[in-house]
Amino acid sequence: MESNWQIHNSSGEHRVIVTRNLPGKKWIEILEDAGCRIEAWVGRKGLTGRQIVNAIGDNCRAAIGMLSENWSAELFAALQKAGGKVYSNYAVGFNNVDLEAATKNGIAVGNTPGVLTGATAELAVALTLAAARRLGEGERFLRAGLFQGWAPSLLLGRLLERKTIGIIGAGRIGSAYAKIMLQGFRTNIIYHGKRVNHSLENFVSAFNDFLAKQGERPVFCRKADNLEDLLIQSDCVSLHTVLNRETHHLIDARRLSLMKKNGILINTSRGQVVDEKALVEHCLNNPQFRAGLDVFEEEPRLAPGLARLENVFILPHLGSATNWTRRSMAVLASMNLGAIIKGRPAWTKPEMELFLSPDPPEAAPSILNAKELGLVLI
Ligand code: DGY
Repeated sequence: MESNWQIHNSSGEHRVIVTRNLPGKKWIEILEDAGCRIEAWVGRKGLTGRQIVNAIGDNCRAAIGMLSENWSAELFAALQKAGGKVYSNYAVGFNNVDLEAATKNGIAVGNTPGVLTGATAELAVALTLAAARRLGEGERFLRAGLFQGWAPSLLLGRLLERKTIGIIGAGRIGSAYAKIMLQGFRTNIIYHGKRVNHSLENFVSAFNDFLAKQGERPVFCRKADNLEDLLIQSDCVSLHTVLNRETHHLIDARRLSLMKKNGILINTSRGQVVDEKALVEHCLNNPQFRAGLDVFEEEPRLAPGLARLENVFILPHLGSATNWTRRSMAVLASMNLGAIIKGRPAWTKPEMELFLSPDPPEAAPSILNAKELGLVLI
């Protein structure tokens, strides 16, 4: 019987498991160069926790896992027992990882920031346009053979030009989204975050200089006084926050009710940031409201009724789904493993593109618990 595990460099000294096959070849070369025997799961369906424990077995130096898996204390205990030193999530988000348990077990945990910023921001823009201009409804209408020719009132949507965009979580991806919206649609920006985002504010100020030269009026960019202020003032709210205890159901029925009746909600962060049941209810009761969602509370399941809503545009978690991005994520994840196996330091600077260059730094690109584990930091 054909195996669902693909093996590379079978005589490698360190056994590494990869719970789903990854795009590209570079990641394989990186692990081979670190002396690894690679076992990549190529089965059609993802692995369960039990299957991952079995795959770890009694000899496993490192693992690359997916955001759809629960990397729990049980998995890290199994990895530690098998001689494991390092795990990398094949994602920038790590809400599926019990970081504390990994640290207790002495396992370094990596992620793949930076390389998916552009792809995710672009997808958030695509969702924004799709929601504002009713692209899902339009396509379904046409495919169903209902189009009888141009009509003055057919599927009227909303203009984005000069509207106010609310960004919840103005980190790398939120800022990138804000800049595209600003340059493409001259939108005002209100952002919510812990700190003033000087880099974003300076960017907007430079853009206003440009607008002035064109004889156009300026836009504004400001940090929200609080979340409620942002929700009330914005025409479109885009979520880019991490998922943790504080942000679970951050957007609930009460906060949805603060948004404009014809507001737009975009989510490319994590499904659990939104109370999906409350969103279904809100969209049912407010047909002018629109949502564009790439992530869901219980992926791959959708909340009852969500898929039937005409005012919601949905995608199957495609934020980072470009060829270049997924290959680059594979490179970062494998470099996290390779560098720790070789005893190299952990990189602490934001520049991730250096790791994609022909002469990458000799370090693990992104180790979340490097400090806690006492790794050398550079
Ligand atoms: C991530 O990396 O966290 C993204 O959700 C993957 O698309």
